[in-house]
Amino acid sequence: MENYHIEKLISEQEINEKVVSLAKQITKDYNSEEVVLVGTLKGSIIFLGNIMPLIDNDNLIVDFISASSYGSGTMSSGDVHILKDLDNSIEGKNVLIIEDLIDTGNTISYIYNMLKARKPKTIKLCSLLDKPSRRIHKELKIDYLGFTIEDYFVVGYGMDFAERYRNLPYIGKVIFDEENNK
Ligand code: IMP
Ligand code: MG
Repeated sequence: MENYHIEKLISEQEINEKVVSLAKQITKDYNSEEVVLVGTLKGSIIFLGNIMPLIDNDNLIVDFISASSYGSGTMSSGDVHILKDLDNSIEGKNVLIIEDLIDTGNTISYIYNMLKARKPKTIKLCSLLDKPSRRIHKELKIDYLGFTIEDYFVVGYGMDFAERYRNLPYIGKVIFDEENNK
């Protein structure tokens, strides 16, 4: 069995400050126009839960989508499956996808293209983290971004390692002990 430990990468305070500034920008940009926040389950739940009440807009609606990208280990494949679709139509609406982390871009690019085909009025992307070093989908534009990180496997603030550590209040990086022996 592999041994690992978790090191803090981004503190609760740093995250909270970033979330406040992203929410301010989103409030300003949508200017009380109707917007559907689409949370990507399960990784974005804490981000969504924290940013949502900071967005000042009486026409804000929330919906969820869940996708899984089958692959081995910690690398996603392009083979994306929708596990739970949106509850409501987004045709003619402003859609803002709330994502936890964009790595290869396989998952979000699949979701983005699928939602775009439903003819929303606008569609934008908000991600707490960006790991650009492994990006396959170079065309992806992140409209609202929290932090760019290096190629670490991260956990916490909604993100998991084999379904664990989503409850950590900060973002940590997983250090595999074998890496230390190299
Ligand atoms: P992508 O399809 O490679 O862009 O990966 C997308 C999803 O895989 C992210 O939205 C995360 O939910 C998950 N993921 C990617 N990298 C990490 C990581 O370092 N920690 C935890 N989850 C990750
Ligand atoms: Mg995700």
